[in-house]
Amino acid sequence: MISHPASPRLVRIPTLKTAAEFRSHVASLGIELPCEDDIMRGPGSPLAQPIQHVRINGKQIGNRFAVQPMEGWDGTTTGGITDDVLRRWERFGQSGAKLIFGGEAMAVRPDGRANPHQLIINDANKAGLAKLRETLFNTHDERFGGTDDLVLGFQLTHSGRFCKPTDNFRLEPRVAYRHPILDRKFGISSDAQVWTDDEIAPLIDDYVKAARIACDVGADFVDIKHCHGYLLHEFLSAFTRPGKYGGSFENRTRILREIVSGIRASGNKIDLAVRLSAFDLVPFKPDPLLSSLGKPGPGIPEDFSHCLPYDYGFGINRSNPLEYDLTDSIHFLELCAELGIKIVNLSAGSPYYNPHFQRPAAYPPSDGYLPPEDPLVGVARQIQVVRRLRATAPKDLLLVGSAYSYLQEYLPHVAQYVVRNGWTDLIGLGRMTLAYPELLADALEKGSLSVKSICRTFSDCTTAPRNGLISGCYPLDKYYSAKPEFQELKKIKKSGGTKRTVDA
Ligand SMILES: Cc1cc2nc3c(=O)[nH]c(=O)nc-3n(C[C@H](O)[C@H](O)[C@H](O)COP(=O)(O)O)c2cc1C
Ligand code: SF4
Repeated sequence: MISHPASPRLVRIPTLKTAAEFRSHVASLGIELPCEDDIMRGPGSPLAQPIQHVRINGKQIGNRFAVQPMEGWDGTTTGGITDDVLRRWERFGQSGAKLIFGGEAMAVRPDGRANPHQLIINDANKAGLAKLRETLFNTHDERFGGTDDLVLGFQLTHSGRFCKPTDNFRLEPRVAYRHPILDRKFGISSDAQVWTDDEIAPLIDDYVKAARIACDVGADFVDIKHCHGYLLHEFLSAFTRPGKYGGSFENRTRILREIVSGIRASGNKIDLAVRLSAFDLVPFKPDPLLSSLGKPGPGIPEDFSHCLPYDYGFGINRSNPLEYDLTDSIHFLELCAELGIKIVNLSAGSPYYNPHFQRPAAYPPSDGYLPPEDPLVGVARQIQVVRRLRATAPKDLLLVGSAYSYLQEYLPHVAQYVVRNGWTDLIGLGRMTLAYPELLADALEKGSLSVKSICRTFSDCTTAPRNGLISGCYPLDKYYSAKPEFQELKKIKKSGGTKRTVDA
C-alpha cells in the first residue's frame, strides 16, 4: 500500500503546463488524484458552496476552504499575542476561507508548550485572544462584507513528547508511554517522564478551563487536538500502557470522553471539533549511506524489527507498520459523532518523525530528509484516506482534509473535484495560507492564481523554528524576508541545517 523507493527525481509542478499534463504525470505515478480542467469562478464553484446541513455556533460555514492551524513561535514568553501573531490572523481573515480551524495550537498550560513563544490559553491572555478574534473578523468583514458565515475555532493542545516550554533547544517531554524508537530519538530515558493516571484529572481541568476561555472570547468551537504525535494523539496509541488510559480502544479514548463531559458539566455549550492524525507510519530518518554533512539523504524507515507487533502507533497495521489500518480511525469518528463533536480535521503522521508523510514537500526541513516518494503520492494518500473515512463516517460529522499545498497550480482543480464528488466536506490549507492567503479569493473571483505567490514547499517555515527563529514564509512573504532572521536563516541553511539537535 505504501512503497518507499530511494528518492525519486521529482517532476516540478510548475513544469506541468496544463491540467492534462498534470493528469498524465499523476498517471505515471500510479496514483488516483483527479484534477478538473479549469478553475471555476463565482458562486457556481463547488468550493463556494456553503455547508448546509451542519451549523457551528448557529452559523453555516460559508464556503469549502479552511485555514489549518499553524503553530506560532512568535508570542510573548508568557504566551500572549504580539504584532506578528496579529498580522498572521489578519491574513487568515483576508484569505476568504470561511472556516478558521484552530488558528494555531494554543497550550492549555505553560509546561505543555511546544516552544517558549507558543500562545497559552489562560485568563492572563484572555484580552489578547479576544483581540485576535476581533482582528480576524474585522479584516474579513472589510474585504468580504460580512461575517455571519465565518466560523472560528481555537486549537487546544498539550505537546507531550515534544514539549519545549522554556528553551527552543531543550525538550521537557511528558509522554503517554515508553516508545522503543521515539524515546531514543527525543531523549526520553526515565519512567518518571510518563504521565501517571493521577496527573490526568488536573490536565482535563486545564482543557475544560481553556474551552471556557475560548467561549468567553467569542470562538465558535474548540479543537481538542489529537494529531502529530502530541499528547492526546499519543494516548490513542497507548496499547502498552497499564491502567484506565491504556490498552483497549475505550481506555485509549477515555481522555477525550472525560474532556467532553467536563466541558459540558461546566455548562459550556461551545461547539467541539478534533484534529486527528487518522493514520501513522513508523518514524523515518535520512539514509546514512546516502547522506553527507548538511545534505541528508532520502528518508528510510527506522529499524522496527525489534518492536513487532508494532503497538506504538494509531491507525497502523501492527504486523507491518509501513501500512496503515483505518479500523480504529473509523471507530474514532463514530465516537466523535456520539460525543456531539461536529468537525473532525484529518491529518496524518507527525512533522517530527515522518514529515514527508504529514506535509509532503519538494524540499525537506533542516531536520528532515529528501522525499522518499514523489510528494504527490503523499497528497493522494491523505485525499484517499479522507475519501474512505467520508464514506463511512456519520453524515452530520463534517470532515476537513489536509496536505493540499504541494498541489500548487493545480490545488483549485483537485479541490473542486474532491468537493464536487463528496470525498471531503472542506479543503484545509496550511502552508499555502502562509505564502498566499488570497489563493481562494483569487480562484473564485478571477479563475486564476498569482503564480509568483504560490507556496513551493521550500520548508523554511519549518526550518526556521527548528533553529529557534520565528516561523513565516521567508522566501515569498516580504514581511519575513525583510527581517534580520532571514539573514540568520540563510546562514543556518548554508552551514548545513539545524544549529543544535532537537534533544540537546
Ligand atoms: C509552520 C507550520 C506550523 C504548523 N502548526 C500546526 C499546528 O499548530 N497544529 C496543527 O494541527 N497542525 C500544524 N501544522 C500542520 C498544518 O496544519 C498542515 O496539516 C500541514 O502543513 C499540511 O498541509 P499543507 O500541505 O496545506 O501545508 C503546521 C504546519 C506548518 C507548516
Ligand atoms: S516557507 Fe513559504 S514557500 Fe516554503 S513551505 Fe513555507 S509557506 Fe511554502
